[in-house]
Amino acid sequence: MEMRGTRVTLRPVVAADLDRLAAILATPEVARWWPAYDRARVEEFIAGEKDVAVYAIEVDGAVAGLIQVTEESEPEFRHAAIDLFLDPAAHGRGLGPEAIRLAARDLIERRGHHRLTIDPAADNERAIRAYAKVGFRPVGRLRRYQRFPDGSWRDGLLMEMLAEELRDG
Ligand SMILES: CC(C)(COP(=O)(O)OP(=O)(O)OC[C@H]1O[C@@H](n2cnc3c(N)ncnc32)[C@H](O)[C@@H]1OP(=O)(O)O)[C@@H](O)C(=O)NCCC(=O)NCCS
Repeated sequence: MEMRGTRVTLRPVVAADLDRLAAILATPEVARWWPAYDRARVEEFIAGEKDVAVYAIEVDGAVAGLIQVTEESEPEFRHAAIDLFLDPAAHGRGLGPEAIRLAARDLIERRGHHRLTIDPAADNERAIRAYAKVGFRPVGRLRRYQRFPDGSWRDGLLMEMLAEELRDG
């Protein structure tokens, strides 16, 4: 299934995307926030798992990043979580928010979700700013949430958005 926006298209990731995605993950700007993704781990990750959908983000017909959607299927806690990264050459043009809006609209309208979450590192100011533009708001600091390759546990920021809070660009 493909989702088309003005500048961004989301389509299911395929094995042929592996090299390109591994190269993007190896750039310092992305590795800083998505550390420790070597080729084998990227392969595993794009193979996906139950309740996880992984889409390539295409800009001008070329792969410029990846967005992952994880659905919580317990009925009492039903919601979906989003993660993404973009090639540094694509940063700062609002393409991340556009990709998130496409995924969010699909989750809300087609999959019937009422609540979405996203959990950047607490000091990832660009990501927090990008997510706020889409309608996510901070709900709390996740202490020592994510382990980095240097062995340190760093804080995250839980952000959430209810269906009616999704903002158009
Ligand atoms: C985070 C990411 C998805 C955001 O997508 P994007 O398309 O670059 O986002 P935008 O172009 O909307 O820019 C985000 C905002 O942050 C601002 N910004 C940029 N650098 C910043 C910084 N160092 N500190 C604070 N804000 C910053 C921009 O000015 C912009 O705000 P504005 O539109 O009000 O001017 C993308 O930059 C990315 O993939 N980064 C590397 C990997 C990563 O951090 N992934 C997220 C892990 S949770």
